Amino acid sequence: MTDRYAVIGNPIAHSKSPVIHAAFARQCGQDIAYEAILGPLDGFRAAVGAFRQASGKGMNVTVPFKLEALELADKPTERARLAGAVNTLRFDSDGVFGDNTDGIGLVRDIRDRLGFALRNKRILILGAGGAARGVVLPLLEEGPAQLAIANRSVEKAVVLKTQFAPFGELATGGFADFADGRFDLVINATSASLGGEGLSLPDGLFGPGALAYDMVYGKGTTPFLADARRLGAVRVADGLGMLVAQAAESFFLWRAVRPDTAPVIAMLQGG
Ligand code: ATR
Repeated sequence: MTDRYAVIGNPIAHSKSPVIHAAFARQCGQDIAYEAILGPLDGFRAAVGAFRQASGKGMNVTVPFKLEALELADKPTERARLAGAVNTLRFDSDGVFGDNTDGIGLVRDIRDRLGFALRNKRILILGAGGAARGVVLPLLEEGPAQLAIANRSVEKAVVLKTQFAPFGELATGGFADFADGRFDLVINATSASLGGEGLSLPDGLFGPGALAYDMVYGKGTTPFLADARRLGAVRVADGLGMLVAQAAESFFLWRAVRPDTAPVIAMLQGG
């Protein structure tokens, strides 16, 4: 029997997850069905329960339900608890397993697909909201020489520093505090690119050979990526690879096979 999976969010019509998972299933020879479900804003739990009742095996969870998904999971992973969000549910016989694959998706996209090793590198995250929080632990686990968080409101960066202190040291400050920081990798985890806004990036942010990575996708060359090039970043990437890689990690949690993301990214870029 075909195993059923779904993505739930609100809105959901523009989700790329059904196309991505259908491509993974073809690539890996897995017999699955994957649909998109519009979750009522006040009815997330009920919608998940109904899908589970209809012999659903697992779900991806997107905006605005990731925190509710963490609360719903009986067995959240440590990285999901630290991220404060669950994007992957798996309905096991002994309860609901919940994980967050965003951070590991980012790491694998940068490290494996782009071939940019993170160990001993100097890494700066811009932003201290949910997107930033979700990637801190997997980045620390790569053993960078330094991990820094710059945020417009410095106090929010300091909250993350305190939260992640048991796992590693975070440098914090406003954007201007990192002038001449010469980072190897600068990740834009602010929501500025969503609205086509730029950031006030200081001079000297990018070191030799630096990569600039915008977690936003589908916006072309964002103001952040354009500024990064002007300020000396030699490589730039948007978040499409992260989107596909977080999906691949969910697929792995459900099916125990990890799809190759490159052909699926190429398909999405072509379409
Ligand atoms: P998300 O879940 O996408 O991270 P969020 O929790 O609302 O969304 O956080 C948005 C992040 O983008 C914050 O770090 C925010 O900075 P502040 O904490 O100072 O508000 C950042 N951000 C959004 N627009 C920005 C802009 N124009 N310039 C600088 N930072 C911006």
